Formats: sequence, structure tokens, C-alpha cells
Amino acid sequence: PIEVKKIVCIGAGYVGGPTCAVVALKCPHIQVTIVDVNQSRIDAWNDPDFNLPIYEPGLVDVVKGCRGRNLFFSTEVDKGIAEADLIFVSVNTPTKKSGLGAGFAADLNYIELATRRIAEVSTSSKIVVEKSTVPCRTAESMRTILEANAKPGCRFDILSNPEFLAEGTAIEDLFAPDRVLIGSLQSQEGLDACAALANVYANWIPKERILTVGLWSSELSKLAANAMLAQRISSVNMLSAICEATGANVDEVAYAVGKDSRVGPKFLKASVGFGGSCFQKYSLNLVYLARSLNLEEVARYWYAVVEANDYQKNRFAKKVVDTLFNTITGKKIAVLGFAFKADTGDTRESPAIDLINHFLSERARVTVYDPEVQESQIMLDLTDYGAKPAEPIQKAVTVCPSALEACKGADAIVVVTEWKEFVNLDWQSIHDTMNKPAFIFDGRNILKRQELKNIGFKVVSIGTGDRL
Ligand code: NAI
Repeated sequence: PIEVKKIVCIGAGYVGGPTCAVVALKCPHIQVTIVDVNQSRIDAWNDPDFNLPIYEPGLVDVVKGCRGRNLFFSTEVDKGIAEADLIFVSVNTPTKKSGLGAGFAADLNYIELATRRIAEVSTSSKIVVEKSTVPCRTAESMRTILEANAKPGCRFDILSNPEFLAEGTAIEDLFAPDRVLIGSLQSQEGLDACAALANVYANWIPKERILTVGLWSSELSKLAANAMLAQRISSVNMLSAICEATGANVDEVAYAVGKDSRVGPKFLKASVGFGGSCFQKYSLNLVYLARSLNLEEVARYWYAVVEANDYQKNRFAKKVVDTLFNTITGKKIAVLGFAFKADTGDTRESPAIDLINHFLSERARVTVYDPEVQESQIMLDLTDYGAKPAEPIQKAVTVCPSALEACKGADAIVVVTEWKEFVNLDWQSIHDTMNKPAFIFDGRNILKRQELKNIGFKVVSIGTGDRL
């Protein structure tokens, strides 16, 4: 079997960084170099005080365990490629903003540029692993580009190895994944390459969790897994609307439904709606794929999952306005949490962005607190990366250093991210400083409702028909 001694990972982001740091930790005999064109990101990975560019519980310890030993971060992309036997391609694949498939299809420009770079600088054979999430049959395009530009004697074997980690539990997920999926061509060379990568993972993952399948199945499985998780959340959220209208309680309904072992209890929590860089994007990629295959009914089915999520976010924003006597103009709304979920600093597609935009369009004043998200990031998201003028937003939005500070003098508090620290805030002191009646909108159903009511709060949760 081919023995992998040197790995390079192109892309030092949320996926490339943690995944390859864990490979380095678990495989001390393999040299792992993570390269990126973004100098400041690489500098942060190399920070002497370990102020890494992304926040994940446990990540610092992993990097401390092997950086400088067999884990390196560098901007020398070409050198990294030239030296490696195995290359993870973990670059970003955003949704296209213009052209064919705009708003739905993945932008494969970064993948193609990285692939062309690999062909250009490789002087020996490589296993090229697509780690980024890509539409079906991208591996074939990569192979065509590599083969058309290969130097004599260089072979490229392409594998699909989608990443299933969830942000916030990335390290836990990488240490003990439910499964590792590797797709390859079923030719002898393809199977050999697949075995080489499987051997890397076998250093810490039980063999029966390493699944090997065909290339196209592997690529489709990643989109399917995301779309089905998104579908579960949308399903429970659509039940939450019925609960609110009827007086049933969505947490009780989800509990009862989840007890059926065919359904299972996980991932059935109603909320303000899902966010993150993956669920919406891959559901829409799947819609695009179905459309391009002329499967309009299939496309409509998956599109409904995304529509339901938008509906849920809007419904929640509208509920805030309705409850505050149909106007929030000039009122102060404290938004607790800006990350798309707890235990991450990632804000991509966070429901907080849509909610705050809604509040601003009603001319409310907004204060925001998040334990992991910087003010500069919040402003980038609210101005849509500079597409909207910053001045009116800066006037209306204040980013605060603590939850207490954000809630001072507010008319309403809106919990958007399920950070644990929000559960046990000094709610009595917060209540004392607020305008009365003091409202709390619990967009994650994490707060202790009865205790808050006893203090005097008017509490609105998701999916319960309870009176205020
Ligand atoms: P990211 O945007 O955090 O990181 C990508 C990095 O690649 C950037 O730092 C960028 O500078 C770098 N890059 C782009 N082109 C390059 C090139 N030619 N040479 C060197 N560096 C280059 O993206 P993230 O979140 O790590 O995602 C990567 C892929 O993994 C995407 O396809 C994403 O959809 C997928 N994915 C993401 C998950 C997540 O939770 N964020 C989970 C599973 C998959």
C-alpha cells in the first residue's frame, strides 16, 4: 500500500485548520503542513500566545500538542504542494453571487485555482483529496484539469472525503466521528489511494467507521446529510408554529416524537431558525442539482426546507414587533448572541443578522452582546461587507462587552444564540434596569421560563401557546 508521509492542506479555515491539526496530533509520524494565501490567518495560527483565528473548544490544546513538531502553518502554498504525497483541498466554496445558478450553485473558482496550482507545481505523483463540499462530479473536473496539465510521470488520484464536523464541537467530532467517508474511483489505482487515506484515519478511528464508497456517492452524501439535517430542523420549526396557535408545547411534542427509535431524539429542537455556512448553502446546491437534472419536483421539495427557515426567522421577528404593542420604533432591543450557534465565533448566515436587520428597518435601537464575536465582525455582517452604508447602522447598533451592559434600560431582550452563560445571568438585576413591562423572547428555548416569570418578565418562547 502507498504510505503517506507528508500531507499538505490547502485552506486554513474552519475545516482545514482543525481537521489537519487533529491528523497531525494523532499521526506523529506524518508531517502536516497547512497552507493558505491569507497571511493574517496563517500568522494567527502561528501566534505565540495561541490566539488562533477560529474558536473551537479543545482546539488550542490540539495545536499546542503538535505545532512545530509535525504540524506547520505557512503561506508557501507551492512548496507545501511540491513536498506532499497527499493534498487536502479545503478551500472555500461560497454560493455564486452572479451568473448561471446565482444564489443556488457553488462557486468553484477557488477549487479550480487550487487544482491548477497543484498541476503546475507538482513534480511527483499525488493523492488529491477534495475536503471542501462540492457539487457532484467535481472530482471529475479536477481530474480533467490535473491530467491536462500534469508533468510527465506525475499521476493524480482523486478522492472525495467530505467533512462532517459540526462547528462548536469540531474537535470532539474529529476525535470520535460517527463515520469517515472516502469516495474513490473503483479502479485499482483509485482503491489503492483510498486505502492510503483510510490508513491515515485508522491511526485513531475504528475501521468499521471508515466507509469507502464510489466518488459520486461520497460527494452526494455530504449534500444529502446536510439537507436532511436542515429538513429536521425545519420540520420541527413548522410544528412550532402549530403549537403556538393551539397551545401545545413543541418541546413536549419533539420529546414524544423523538422517542420513536426510527426518528431519534437528536436535532429536534425548535428555534428561531438555522444558520451557519452549510445548511442553507447545501440545501440550495441540492435544489440546483435537481433542477439541472430536470427534476423539478425534487428541487421544490428541498427548496421548501429553506423557505420554511426564512419563514421561521420572519415569524419570530414579527412576533417581537407584535408583542411590543406593534411598534418598536425608538425602543431598545437587546440581542443576546450573534454567532449562528453556541461555542463558535462563526457568524455566517446567523439568524441574528436577519433579526437585527428587521429591527433596524422598524427603526429600533439595538444593543448586541456575544461572548466570542468581535464588534468589527458584527459591523461587517450588518453592512453586508460594506454593501450598505455603515453610518446609520453604527448609529442604531451598539455592541456591548457584557450581557448585563446590553440589557441595561432595554424594552426587550431577544436571545438568539444558545450560549450557556445566558441561562444563569443575574436576571433580577437585569429586570430592575429595564423598561416595564420587561419582555424576553427566547429564540432558543433555553431560559428557565418560570423563574423569569416569577421575577416579573413577560416571556415569549418558541412553540408554546402559553399566555405571557
Ligand atoms: P474558510 O473560508 O474558513 O476557509 C477556506 C480558506 O481557504 C480561506 O482561508 C482561504 O484564504 C483559503 N484559500 C482559498 N483558495 C486558496 C488557494 N488557492 N490557496 C490557498 N488557500 C486558499 O472555509 P471553511 O469553513 O473552512 O470551509 C471549507 C470547505 O469545507 C467549504 O467547501 C465548506 O463548505 C466545507 N465545510 C465546512 C464546514 C463548516 O462547518 N464550516 C463543515 C464541513 C464542510
